[in-house]
Amino acid sequence: MAKKIQTPTLIDCDPGVDDAFAIALALASPEIDLRAITTVHGNVPARMAYRNARRVVPFLGVNLRSPKPLPAVYPGAGLPLRGGRIDRKISISIHGEDGLGDLFRKRKPPAPGLRRESRVASQVIASLSRGLGGSLSIIAIGPLTNLALAVRRDRKALAGVGRIVIMGGAAQMPGNATRAAEFNVHCDPEAAEVVMNCGAPITMIGLNVTRRAVLPSRSLGGGGEFRGALRDLAGPYIGFSKRRRGVDGVTLHDPLAVAAALEPGLVGCLHRKVSVECGSGPARGMTVVDLRPGADAPASRARSAEVAMEVDEKRFLRLFLSRLRAYRGWS
Ligand code: RIB
Ligand code: CA
Repeated sequence: MAKKIQTPTLIDCDPGVDDAFAIALALASPEIDLRAITTVHGNVPARMAYRNARRVVPFLGVNLRSPKPLPAVYPGAGLPLRGGRIDRKISISIHGEDGLGDLFRKRKPPAPGLRRESRVASQVIASLSRGLGGSLSIIAIGPLTNLALAVRRDRKALAGVGRIVIMGGAAQMPGNATRAAEFNVHCDPEAAEVVMNCGAPITMIGLNVTRRAVLPSRSLGGGGEFRGALRDLAGPYIGFSKRRRGVDGVTLHDPLAVAAALEPGLVGCLHRKVSVECGSGPARGMTVVDLRPGADAPASRARSAEVAMEVDEKRFLRLFLSRLRAYRGWS
């Protein structure tokens, strides 16, 4: 079989249950050369996001059938660009007290195998962008504060990356943080506006497609120890989903962004202008996608994105489940 081309990739995340599933997919995919993971406030406070990523990566690594070098994890922004308090109430009911479904309260956390890094997320994002340019793929699955700070550090470098795939926003779909706004964008609308306008090729994977990417609970049934751990990881997330949406499964918001980077054909996109509402009214954090007929965004990339409007959810779930077989104890 022809060797798959490896794309140098950075994941910026706020782990978070679905972030953990996204990292699992990335580590199990030979097409992804995961160079770094950066963490940011969002589902959990920044320090917890950093701790969680440093637990999830070794936990996944030790369960891979074919061991591979693991990415370094770097700490990122603790507050949105405009500052402000992060309210954890809703996140705790979705992701558990520890942000990982309380997985490592039910299981011993892995030995902290990763060394502590001295650089912060925005430095690493800017430096990898400058060093790798068009060959770098950035997958952003949390609030966009780190990326916006990296744009401020080196606008030219960020504009020159291969692509930025964002799990965030929603096209013509109510939000999940408020009626108008999706959680990642709602956490830091100013950062989202900076990133949307940075000039890099952006793919926006919004709620309008991720809400269709549901892994049924039964898919986490049975199997070995690793699948049992994923079942524990997803416990509170599924409970919340059943109570609030009557959906008995894991909505794989973040893994769909990784999958769209792996196989762009999984989603159908329109190149459209996207603006982020940064006012203080009820629409704050809304992504306004210009879907009027003929409103194709101009060739220029400023303030525009490839907005995912369609998804082949069956093909996505097949890909996701097939990659999990890379872990010992999945089956
Ligand atoms: O709206 C879904 C997004 O918000 C996901 O990235 C989830 O992890 C939370 O961060
Ligand atoms: Ca996330």
